Amino acid sequence: NIKYSQTFRRLRKNRSIRKLVEDVELESKHLIQPYFIYEALSKEEDLKSIARQKKHTLDSILKELGRGLENGVNAALLFFIPEHKAKSHFDYSFDVKVLTAIKERFGSDLNLFTDICLCSNTDTGHCGFVSDQGVIENDKSVIALAQKAVAYAQGGADGLCPSDMMDDRVLAIRRGLDEANLSDRLVMSYSTKYSSAFYGPFRDAAESTPSSGDRKSYQIDPRNSKDGIRCSIRDAEQGADILMVKPAGAYLDVIHQIKNHSFLKNHPLAAYQVSGEYQGLYVCAENGLFDFDSALLESLIAIRRAGADLIVSYAANDFKNIQEN
Ligand code: PBG
Repeated sequence: NIKYSQTFRRLRKNRSIRKLVEDVELESKHLIQPYFIYEALSKEEDLKSIARQKKHTLDSILKELGRGLENGVNAALLFFIPEHKAKSHFDYSFDVKVLTAIKERFGSDLNLFTDICLCSNTDTGHCGFVSDQGVIENDKSVIALAQKAVAYAQGGADGLCPSDMMDDRVLAIRRGLDEANLSDRLVMSYSTKYSSAFYGPFRDAAESTPSSGDRKSYQIDPRNSKDGIRCSIRDAEQGADILMVKPAGAYLDVIHQIKNHSFLKNHPLAAYQVSGEYQGLYVCAENGLFDFDSALLESLIAIRRAGADLIVSYAANDFKNIQEN
């Protein structure tokens, strides 16, 4: 028998009481801002496929990183787009020059993460090498990924972020870093990366759409949740410092499972709200269907509520100005 009224609405009455009892926090410090830097560009341009993002040059990335830090975002994830594609033997001298300049400017105020994949470098657009028979060459790719990671770490990257989904790349990168006396650099692995249509706008930006075939032989099948968990366990065992689920919005259950898994729950966990998730919200808002800031905020809160400690978000640098309506 209930003796008093069950009024849950008392705790929702106004903003100040709602704020007092909320249990999910989202602040700029939880966010990592991605950036695209183009070797072939001499002047920055707008990126057409992902709203409010730029195609950066060395000068413009330094400016935008400074703006991010002023807005409380102290982590960046860099993607380099080379001027020329190649079959193998990639040239990272431009990338290393940019990394060195960034570190000289910002030092340890900025956590400088770099994506480690071959898809913007290879002439096939695949994340690893492809044999003449059209088969992905896992072990050869892993060697090249570790070489790239070491080159970026020597340039000053604090964190190396393999997104290729080859087997055992975390182990190879960890060994490569240790052998190069770069044991202090961390690995943030895209440990649970699903094969997803939501990467569409990114591939346009990174010039990395596969020229033939798809990525299903290396990225995880959306119908397989167990594979998603196993991949993060393996990467944690191989020395990944931070794990990641990607995409985020359609995989909140996977984020939740990893955050509550007995072996993984104490591991820092990131989630990547990928280009198609972000751009989908933007296009709806552009069509007057809802308010962009409110929808974006709700989607990011959901990712935190599911259990992500960090979120890679295209809205990171603008987050301070994003307001719920
Ligand atoms: C490279 C890579 C991709 C993304 C991050 N790193 C694309 C892909 O795997 O095809 C996607 C990021 C986004 O969509 O915002 N392998």
